Amino acid sequence: MGIVTTVSLNGILVDQLDENLRATGGIARGLPPDDSARTPPDGDDLPAGAPFGPGLPFGVLVAEITDGRVTSAAVLDRRGTSQPVPSEVTSALLDVVVGDRPRSAELGELGSYRLVAGERTEADGDTVTVVTGQSERPLQETLSTLVTIEVVVVAVALLGAGVAGAVAVRRELRPLEEVAATASRVSALPLASGAVELVERVPVTNPRSEVGQVGTALNRMLDHVGSALEERHASELRLRQFVADASHELRTPLAAIRGYAELSRRGELTEEAAYSLQRISSSAERMSTLVEDLLLLARLDAGRPLERVEVDLTHLVLDAVNDAHVAGPGHRWLLDLPDEPVTVTGDPSRLAQVLNNLLANARTHTPPGTRVSVGLAPRDGGVVLTVVDDGPGIAPELAPRVFERFARGSSSRSRESGSTGLGLAIVSAVVAAHRGTVDVTSRPGRTEFTVTLPH
Ligand SMILES: Nc1ncnc2c1ncn2[C@@H]1O[C@H](COP(=O)(O)OP(=O)(O)OP(=O)(O)O)[C@@H](O)[C@H]1O
Ligand SMILES: [Mg+2]
Repeated sequence: MGIVTTVSLNGILVDQLDENLRATGGIARGLPPDDSARTPPDGDDLPAGAPFGPGLPFGVLVAEITDGRVTSAAVLDRRGTSQPVPSEVTSALLDVVVGDRPRSAELGELGSYRLVAGERTEADGDTVTVVTGQSERPLQETLSTLVTIEVVVVAVALLGAGVAGAVAVRRELRPLEEVAATASRVSALPLASGAVELVERVPVTNPRSEVGQVGTALNRMLDHVGSALEERHASELRLRQFVADASHELRTPLAAIRGYAELSRRGELTEEAAYSLQRISSSAERMSTLVEDLLLLARLDAGRPLERVEVDLTHLVLDAVNDAHVAGPGHRWLLDLPDEPVTVTGDPSRLAQVLNNLLANARTHTPPGTRVSVGLAPRDGGVVLTVVDDGPGIAPELAPRVFERFARGSSSRSRESGSTGLGLAIVSAVVAAHRGTVDVTSRPGRTEFTVTLPH
């Protein structure tokens, strides 16, 4: 808009100036020559010629050219007197062709002028070329004022539009903050396990706006995620229930198999039959242990409450090490117990199982002669139990997942001990149910299990 206005105003003003110039040229050519009034040129100035007659506007330039020579040139100043014109403008004055449209020219210190040429026939029949000019300065001043105004107006308008736009955009997008807040609240929820109630939703005021659509889409996604999580939890529950039921149901027939195998072994038997029955007994026994372990894990998974009584850990450790000593007389069993009895609140039989599993590992996965030391110490409002052996250590590829279910080593030692890989999984689950932690560090020559239990 600014550029178009400026260009068209420039055109209009130049047209007006040219119009005036033509009129002025007519007046100037009509002036009678007055030789008596001619003043001699002063230094670099052209001869001033006759003083201006009436009817000429201020700033007008009149020059007379005879035979390709500027015979006189003067400018009418604001006081109505004619001022001399410097001689450097001669060539510009001579360039103006009679009959051409007015043209612009730079006249040195006079500034830029619009010039037009006409002819006058003297009384003696000579033709004199009269060049009339009008200063373009008023026009340029008008234009530069206009440009200044335009720049200021545009700047103010841009600023206003910017501020208004920013305010409007911010107000429009405010609901987006609500969307972001909901998304981050949801991401803070523990979705990985257990029952999750996904109640967070974005409040959508205008579902047709872009932000409303984002909110609606997010809500729809949360609905989907919520139902997927419910489905996941339900199937987890079903699986746990299934494992628990299956283990429970297997107990009775297994007990029956063991009982009948035991009973049959008492009669008169061939060597082969006795061997078979002995295998049946021991396999059934292993299977019973496995089923018991699975049942325990299923119950711990289901979050069945444990017994919570005061447990004397010192006592438990003593018993467990004594049992281990009997089971593994080839190993060297060391004890490091504090003088004071150490107690925690928990389930005594489960804690005993933790100890037994750790000691059984130290016994079955190490060669005879291995030294196993069991330590117990109170620490920061809890208890630390350590089982350290100087056996061959846990295989490095197994180490990161020893606490997983059915994770067991492939060494012949593990195989011949009939291991199932549930021992450490049970340790981990029982300790977690007591809100404790269990860690292992292992390298050849030193394997250390550390169990911390809160009081
Ligand atoms: N003290 C240890 N020294 C060397 N390896 C160990 C030790 N404790 C555990 N491991 C390795 O970790 C594996 C997993 O142990 P975990 O007690 O879970 O199962 P398991 O002893 O094989 O079977 P389960 O205890 O159910 O009879 C073992 O198979 C064994 O390879
Ligand atoms: Mg074990």
